[in-house]
Amino acid sequence: MNPPDLKTVAMTPRLHDYLLSHVEPPDPVQRQLISITATLGDAAEMQVPHEQAAFLTLLTRLIRAQRIVEVGTFTGYSTLALALGMPPAGRLITCDLSAEWARIAQDAWRDAGVADRIELRLGPAAETLRGLPETANIDLVFLDADKVGYIDYWEQLVPRLRPGGVLLADNVFYYGEAADDEPVGNAAAIDAFNRHVRADDRVDSVMLPIADGLTLARKHDS
Ligand SMILES: C[S@@+](CC[C@H](N)C(=O)[O-])C[C@H]1O[C@@H](n2cnc3c(N)ncnc32)[C@H](O)[C@@H]1O
Repeated sequence: MNPPDLKTVAMTPRLHDYLLSHVEPPDPVQRQLISITATLGDAAEMQVPHEQAAFLTLLTRLIRAQRIVEVGTFTGYSTLALALGMPPAGRLITCDLSAEWARIAQDAWRDAGVADRIELRLGPAAETLRGLPETANIDLVFLDADKVGYIDYWEQLVPRLRPGGVLLADNVFYYGEAADDEPVGNAAAIDAFNRHVRADDRVDSVMLPIADGLTLARKHDS
């Protein structure tokens, strides 16, 4: 039983199954990508869970995003979810370091018929983002890469968002460790990022308790 002021219900396996039974299930390409990614072992836990992917698709549709930047491709599940929410003319740039994982992603994007909406940029994301035009007018950003880079990515991307554009950042709980009295390592980086976002008067933001915590921010109208 939660204390009366704690209205977020703790997730259990049973409740998670219930939640999954009430979202659009993974389509055959998504199922295949989940299976292939699972063969990578421990790394597979980096893939966003399906309920979060469903949220990314819905949010992309909701704001009619046509220009998306993602930081952290891995095997492409979140990229696919974003691309599925875009119109065919939409363009998504996704950044990663690993050509090996990206090959798995590219096969899935092709099989889903969305490969022509996606541009993969291999290399350190900080360099890729610095190379984007100041006038990129991005509609939607999804951050899901190295946690120590989040503040830099945020600072590169907020100015390149259109007024009213949306920024999402994953793992803002960092397994709950961001809330430790003295967080260390990646948890400390995430805690610093969370304080950075809270203090940023260019955006409104909320932290959603989805999966490992997801920050949703909207850039103010100019
Ligand atoms: C949590 S995974 C992304 C998961 C992905 N969003 C998904 O749903 O499958 C993080 C990714 O960030 C990439 N990454 C880590 N440091 C990076 C950097 N400096 N620049 C670009 N990508 C980086 C890793 O190679 C890894 O694929």
